[in-house]
Amino acid sequence: MYEYRGKTLSEAVSNAVRGNSLPKFDVLEFPQSLGTKKIEKRSDHYPFKRNLKNGTTLFVGEGNFSFSLNMARARLVKASQFISTSYESENDLDDLAYQNAQSLISLGVTVKTNVDATKLKDTFGNRRFDRIIFQFPNVASRSSIYGQNPNHTLITRFIKNAKDHLKALGEIVISTVDSPYYEGAFKMDDAAKKAGYQPPEIFDFDPDQYSGYIHQNTDNDESALESHDKFATFVFTP
Ligand SMILES: C[S@@+](CC[C@H](N)C(=O)[O-])C[C@H]1O[C@@H](n2cnc3c(N)ncnc32)[C@H](O)[C@@H]1O
Repeated sequence: MYEYRGKTLSEAVSNAVRGNSLPKFDVLEFPQSLGTKKIEKRSDHYPFKRNLKNGTTLFVGEGNFSFSLNMARARLVKASQFISTSYESENDLDDLAYQNAQSLISLGVTVKTNVDATKLKDTFGNRRFDRIIFQFPNVASRSSIYGQNPNHTLITRFIKNAKDHLKALGEIVISTVDSPYYEGAFKMDDAAKKAGYQPPEIFDFDPDQYSGYIHQNTDNDESALESHDKFATFVFTP
């Protein structure tokens, strides 16, 4: 038995760490448990802008491009390090989307239209990114696919497909309305399991933090930001 004392717990630990005769596992175990605790602690909101300062980012399903435009205007975010895409073709973009796409291009962002988030290879070949972001995915259909809600099918196919386009330690980021109804539709944990990911980490999402972000609704979209006040960001890692 060894006993180490100090005026504070950390002094006692540091005395213990200095003691040569302390069994190795004791020295190792204390810092490890501190480390684990730190990793488990999450910040309130996913740090979009901080993360976009590092590595490459692909935005899919951007609709009117207003979210990625807000990102491109953030301090220290390198616009040249990200690509913003819409599912719609160039001809189908409305005036706001077209204007935002032009602004993105003038800031140095690559903009692509007609990009299906479930078929990224068609546009990006074998290219990989540090993160792939899909804000408020929604299909313009209510018909179930193989008995599943079409939004669950969309995100399952998306994250499965996106796996081939993530760098090591890369992540998928998806924001949705935070309500039991939406969780029932998306079934994020099930999607993660089917696509071979860990259960997602969940953060708060507050659209008001992103000036100029005008959420675009799809035809049948009941997820209009105006009619909800709680939103969440899900972060998936393989
Ligand atoms: C509710 S809107 C959100 C648009 C935008 N991300 C936002 O936050 O305002 C849903 C978007 O998902 C897009 N979408 C639906 N299916 C898609 C797919 N397979 N690949 C990429 N985008 C898709 C739609 O075109 C639409 O723009």
